Amino acid sequence: MIKVMSIFGTRPEAIKMAPVVKALERAEGIESVVCVTAQHREMLDQVLTLFDIQPDHDLNIMKSGQSLSEITARVLLGLEAVMKEEKPDLVLVHGDTSTTFSAALAAFYNGIKVGHVEAGLRSYDKLSPFPEEINRSLVGRLADLHFAPTQGNYKNLISEHIKKEAICITGNTVIDALYDVIEETYTFEQDVLNHIDYANRRVIFMTAHRRENLGEPMENIFSAVRHIVDHNEDVEVVFPMHLNPKVREVAYKHLEGHNRIHLIDPLEYKPSANLMKRCYLILTDSGGIQEEGPSLGKPVVVLRRETERPEAVEAGTVRMAGVDRNRIIDIVQTLLSDYSAYEAMAGAVNPYGDGTASEQIVQAIQRFFDGM
Ligand code: UD1
Ligand code: UDP
Repeated sequence: MIKVMSIFGTRPEAIKMAPVVKALERAEGIESVVCVTAQHREMLDQVLTLFDIQPDHDLNIMKSGQSLSEITARVLLGLEAVMKEEKPDLVLVHGDTSTTFSAALAAFYNGIKVGHVEAGLRSYDKLSPFPEEINRSLVGRLADLHFAPTQGNYKNLISEHIKKEAICITGNTVIDALYDVIEETYTFEQDVLNHIDYANRRVIFMTAHRRENLGEPMENIFSAVRHIVDHNEDVEVVFPMHLNPKVREVAYKHLEGHNRIHLIDPLEYKPSANLMKRCYLILTDSGGIQEEGPSLGKPVVVLRRETERPEAVEAGTVRMAGVDRNRIIDIVQTLLSDYSAYEAMAGAVNPYGDGTASEQIVQAIQRFFDGM
């Protein structure tokens, strides 16, 4: 038996690792162990419940207002005992969070091989996304197996002298997860979402949480959104706010008290995905939503200066708006006023795979250990 320990801690890691965990559980010759760091608590638990994953280990590290050093240190120390007890053959980590980096480092220190899911995405800007660009790059140095979603991600790894035999192009597991939860007729638990007139209102789905956007950039973003809603009577915004108090404070300051702006708690993944499916437009600084929007045929306006996900920008469904108030207003207003501009962005494209990434990852793991 190959013992594979999947380690994750935040909402996006959990969403994108859930199909991998399920595929590992189904695979013959593999024993699957799950360890969560709980870098996020409520937002992680929402996903564990949805996909019915019961972790074997839970480090429960989250603290309000946690610093990067605190997360990194607590994960590294907490994993020491878990790794000594479980002695896995392979640790699987996902993406670019502090949990990801710290878990890969802990595995390396303990002589355990590392598989990196969602490998090879690069902005090549050390400070953006911060600290994710460096987290992901460092995991690239630590990993023995790299699961690259796209050809472009593969090329990045090759240019960094990763051996091609160690890389497998799989597509992104987010597509596996997304296909699992979208329903044609869906009733939301949050009544407010059932009462929105999706046919006659233009609903904007918005998220914002990035560390490098906290402060002035986020003030600019929310002020732009307020302006857009004030100047377009058929526009309605749904903003499931991240639980980070630094995000909520600015969101309330600019967006509270408007009857066409709904500030709500983070949605579970299923309602979130089904709301995206029903909306007109997406505004976001999220990584995962840049991958989901194009697959759902929704234009995505990205509230960041750069992206490590250029595929959908090149395909024309994602547009980079940056964090300048006037530029955000211009881009969104064009999409609201010029239907041909909207249509040009709204065609569904999916550069991120066919929903079989998790199965491909499991097969690559089996081949890796067969060849040893
Ligand atoms: C983290 C990741 C980021 C990812 C994001 C997904 C790092 C450095 N950052 O950023 O890459 O895009 O998760 O959302 O790893 N909080 C709660 N409950 C929760 C989750 C968060 O209360 O369930 C609050 C806590 O006060 C916490 C704060 O949010 O301290 C920030 O969480 P943290 O994981 O440090 O940073 P994120 O901005 O969520
Ligand atoms: N998401 C969710 N509920 C919400 C908002 C987003 O389930 O209220 C999902 C979203 O569909 C995507 C993931 O969370 O799959 C993205 O997570 P986040 O934006 O927190 O992190 P990032 O992708 O930027 O790392």
